[in-house]
Amino acid sequence: MVSSIDSSVGTVRKVVTELPGPKSRALHERRKAVVSAGLTNGFPIYIERADGAILRDVDGNLILDLGSGIAVTSIGHAVPEVVDAVSAQVAAFTHTCFMVTPYESYVEVCEELAALTPGDFAKTSALLNSGSEAVENAVKIARLATGRQAIVVFDHAYHGRTNLTMALTAKNMPYKDRFGPFAPEIYRAPMSYPYRDGLSGAEAAARAIKYIETQVGAHNVAALLIEPIQGEGGFVVPAEGFLPALSEWTTKNGVVFIADEIQSGFCRTGDWFAVNYEGVVPDMVTTAKGLAGGMPLAAVTGRADLMNAVHEGGLGGTYGGNPVAAAAALATIKTMRDRNLVTRAREIGEITLGNLRSLQQDVAIIGDVRGRGAMIAMELVNPGTKEPNAAAAKAIVGYCNQQGVIALACGTYGNVIRLLPPLVITDEQLADGLSVLAAAVRSAG
Ligand SMILES: Cc1ncc(COP(=O)(O)O)c(C=O)c1O
Repeated sequence: MVSSIDSSVGTVRKVVTELPGPKSRALHERRKAVVSAGLTNGFPIYIERADGAILRDVDGNLILDLGSGIAVTSIGHAVPEVVDAVSAQVAAFTHTCFMVTPYESYVEVCEELAALTPGDFAKTSALLNSGSEAVENAVKIARLATGRQAIVVFDHAYHGRTNLTMALTAKNMPYKDRFGPFAPEIYRAPMSYPYRDGLSGAEAAARAIKYIETQVGAHNVAALLIEPIQGEGGFVVPAEGFLPALSEWTTKNGVVFIADEIQSGFCRTGDWFAVNYEGVVPDMVTTAKGLAGGMPLAAVTGRADLMNAVHEGGLGGTYGGNPVAAAAALATIKTMRDRNLVTRAREIGEITLGNLRSLQQDVAIIGDVRGRGAMIAMELVNPGTKEPNAAAAKAIVGYCNQQGVIALACGTYGNVIRLLPPLVITDEQLADGLSVLAAAVRSAG
């Protein structure tokens, strides 16, 4: 019962029990009997309330969140504007199914998406429940609109865990292993990964295009699907010029350019969308995560001629664009504008990059520090080499957790620590988190 819980969460990290504490450990035992073992918890503390960048667990520990539930609560936890909008919508009505009887908020979210996503052409959207579902729909639409089948994705890509999106995702363990067979007509091109390939954007794009033209054939390609900054694959920021060159190639060849902005979108990188940094205008954009402040909502937004090529009834789903999630999205977008979170994400990026780069001078296990805005990572290696050091990443996450800080690992090799703080994190909270992280890195190094 929410009403019986003390509503003051506090703003300062405070660890009052061993972590996980006794109540969390008891809940975890209960969980084992009824929750599939296929679902793991990075940090099994059970949360009862949250505010801004702080989570309070059932044992009374105040935890600093540098992960935002994997890039979802970008505007922070329990933001009053979103709480009010969601509460009012729950009291009004919770569901009609947009495909049966529509409502205004769905249309308003699509208007916002058309205005915010890059490109000044006419755009329409379809609203879905999860990022994977948005990606699936983007692929469906691109195939239908072009009459072609091949989909080009990239090394290190992550696009989800449904059957089609498993095929689009690069990494086998834990996402794909023994879950096949996978969907056909998916082709994986080499990604630009400056730290590891040393190529310029133009060189990396030429390599990818050569692969596509020789092994797939441009005229067979329906869509090129890419994360402008890769998320789960290791916060890989492609070299400058890579995305514009691919975009130009898709335009020349009648291929749909789909930017998967599910992790990088909605202010996270210090712009509304990560493609904006290089002025790339995708034909379609997939969004989710930060879009609705923690409520499940996702979207495909794209050129109206592509999106509207679909026959009547060809898109949909029972819950997609649910009114409560739509209300949350409208309040979230307004909050992002009102609090100028694009600018705040850039500030967080400057502080964090500066901090981690000076740490890199001292600690030999940090091979690379990269990212944009509040999407920053460090790649860990064995000293003096570029060999991935997944053990260090694991040790750092564990150390941070013990100190009451949520930090996440990622990367094809499991050797990247990524920071995705809520954009409302205060300078004091960020400094606190970065000092715990620095201690963790020194201890692992
Ligand atoms: C870039 C990207 N695409 C797709 C997805 C899948 O989204 P979901 O987990 O909501 O299905 C994710 C999730 O992490 C993602 O980061």
